[in-house]
Amino acid sequence: MSDTGPNQLQAAYWTSAAGPQWVQQQAMFDHMLGHFGHAALKVLAAQAGEHIIDIGCGTATTTLAIADAVGPTGWVIGADISTTMIDAARQRASASPQATFVVADAQTERIAPVDQPADAAFSRFGVMFFADPVAAFTNIAANVRTGGRLAFVCWQHEQDNEWISLPAGIMRQFTPEPVLPPRNAPGPFAFHDRGRLGEILSAAEWHDVLIEPFSAPTTMGGGLGLDAAVTQSMSTSAGQILRNQVDEATFAAATKAVRAALSERMLGGAVTFPGNVWVATAHR
Ligand SMILES: C[S@@+](CC[C@H](N)C(=O)[O-])C[C@H]1O[C@@H](n2cnc3c(N)ncnc32)[C@H](O)[C@@H]1O
Repeated sequence: MSDTGPNQLQAAYWTSAAGPQWVQQQAMFDHMLGHFGHAALKVLAAQAGEHIIDIGCGTATTTLAIADAVGPTGWVIGADISTTMIDAARQRASASPQATFVVADAQTERIAPVDQPADAAFSRFGVMFFADPVAAFTNIAANVRTGGRLAFVCWQHEQDNEWISLPAGIMRQFTPEPVLPPRNAPGPFAFHDRGRLGEILSAAEWHDVLIEPFSAPTTMGGGLGLDAAVTQSMSTSAGQILRNQVDEATFAAATKAVRAALSERMLGGAVTFPGNVWVATAHR
């Protein structure tokens, strides 16, 4: 992975800023994203013996699930732009020989062996960060055999995801700058617009594109109570952006305000919001 490529800012962010926190809080993120990942894995429907690439695989939660599904006669390659994520993924997957990993920018780099294109490409929330999404999905298609498939999950608009819009709205009171990336820019909500996402996939030569809404509870902090929910909320992309904009005292004041708001949303010992995503499928 070159540090001068089109996604070098994302590489730096996911390696040095967000990566270490994501690795540390993996259990919380898995708890939060589990329902959505399962929905995408269900439509992927990986079969024994298949070859699959997991784009933006992070610390390998879904790569390991796919490894189980394809079994010893198949393989899955987890690709991620972050060395921090891939180091953690390799450690977690050391007992699964059919899962291997590569540090790669999925927009520009080859992932599957040239002589053995994958049967399918998959992602759980790992495809919204490309500088050029059409180029990225074209490159992903080039890694998949003709007739092969694509299945991924991405967030709908932040306003339809209160787990981020509530804390981000509060953080915004502590800084003159936005705490979420501009509309359609690389970031967790880059594909909020279903029509635009469909156009991107079609322009990248994916066919039979289907983008379905899916909703499920989004629990913050692994359901381990208010402190954990606050910790995770302040580690989201909005929290990371705020941290870069303000001094420590202001960040602490914002954290206190977010804590007060989340405390009002506690139910049965957990902070849970409705979560809304798109589950996208297509064929090559
Ligand atoms: C929100 S995390 C999701 C991680 C993992 N899929 C999961 O669900 O636990 C997004 C991941 O996408 C990766 N990523 C961002 N841009 C990428 C790119 N251009 N190529 C490959 N991976 C990328 C990040 O490093 C990060 O690990």
